[in-house]
Amino acid sequence: MRIAINTGGGDAPGLNAVVRAAVLSAERRGWDVVGIRRGYDGLFNLGGVVPLDGTAVRGITHLGGTILGTTNRGSPFSFPVEQPDGSVRLVDRSDEVIERMKRLRIDCLIAVGGDGSLRIASELAGKGLNVIGVPKTIDNDLHATQVTFGFHTAVQTATDAIDKLHSTAEAHQRIMVVELMGRHAGWIALFAGFAATADAILIPEVPYDIEKVAAKIRQRYREGPEFAIVVVAEGAKPKGGEVSYLEETGPGGGRRLGGVAKRVSRQLQELTGHESRSLVLGHLQRGGRPIAFDRLLSLRFGSAAIELAAEGRFGCMVALDAPVVKAVPLAEAVARIKTVPQEHEVVMAARGMGISFGD
Ligand code: F6P
Repeated sequence: MRIAINTGGGDAPGLNAVVRAAVLSAERRGWDVVGIRRGYDGLFNLGGVVPLDGTAVRGITHLGGTILGTTNRGSPFSFPVEQPDGSVRLVDRSDEVIERMKRLRIDCLIAVGGDGSLRIASELAGKGLNVIGVPKTIDNDLHATQVTFGFHTAVQTATDAIDKLHSTAEAHQRIMVVELMGRHAGWIALFAGFAATADAILIPEVPYDIEKVAAKIRQRYREGPEFAIVVVAEGAKPKGGEVSYLEETGPGGGRRLGGVAKRVSRQLQELTGHESRSLVLGHLQRGGRPIAFDRLLSLRFGSAAIELAAEGRFGCMVALDAPVVKAVPLAEAVARIKTVPQEHEVVMAARGMGISFGD
């Protein structure tokens, strides 16, 4: 067997552990492995496909980022190509991917990615490529697996950061509003907000009424202590309102979520009369070493992907169904995203302890 592996979408702690597990497991079977750099981009560039062996993956289990590089722009189905006049045209290069894989004599691609990258992988599978998916994202928004690797490390990073906000908030008797990642799912904000004992947690799944959040904060200042921590998911929106976007767009012209913490902070200061500050934790949530839970999950996923390849079970994605790692159809895995159910046990526990969701 000759295996190719790539990492696509936003990076997440644990990517390198997947690569290492897959490479070592394949090598032990006498298979060859190559890595494609930066998602599928490496297929179109000289030097973009590199051999991977035990030496290449030595000492990377604990490292954040990805030794293969990644991209969350474009796709082989809509590849941005710069035109002579400087404009950018999106071109379908998926046939080239299939052709290049044939020329490289690849028997199976292990695609490590989130919903976007796995959708691409699923479409390539539809064109006849043997693909096995590995679910990655700090957002934890893939429904076919109980959890994605990277998520718990992001929650840990966010929890540590919010812990640190408590002392400065208390010292200045301020409201601190912190914005966390997650796109249109509130998993990171919910878990980190609950673990770090926020007073209010605003998530996309529960549109907020700012008056209700203000009432919760007034009550807290009245009863003491006189400071408050509000955790806001970047995709949170007010009842009947819209999500907040940054003014600047991404390189492809796409709008980027951001700014809700600033908006909430300003409103809370006005409504409560208490001084408020906002901050955006941003890409810190994606960086750094994976915690042990994510390393274990990544190593298990990487090994399981090679196991599936050996069994010829292509078109699948590895998934955690604790206590086991199983295979689910790739097409089903990318059919929808997983958001926080209103009745999720953590939501109910938080509500039961008096944490406001602004509704
Ligand atoms: O999907 C992972 C994620 O970190 C989201 O939580 C966030 O909205 C997005 O990627 C940020 O992407 P970029 O790295 O392009 O700013």
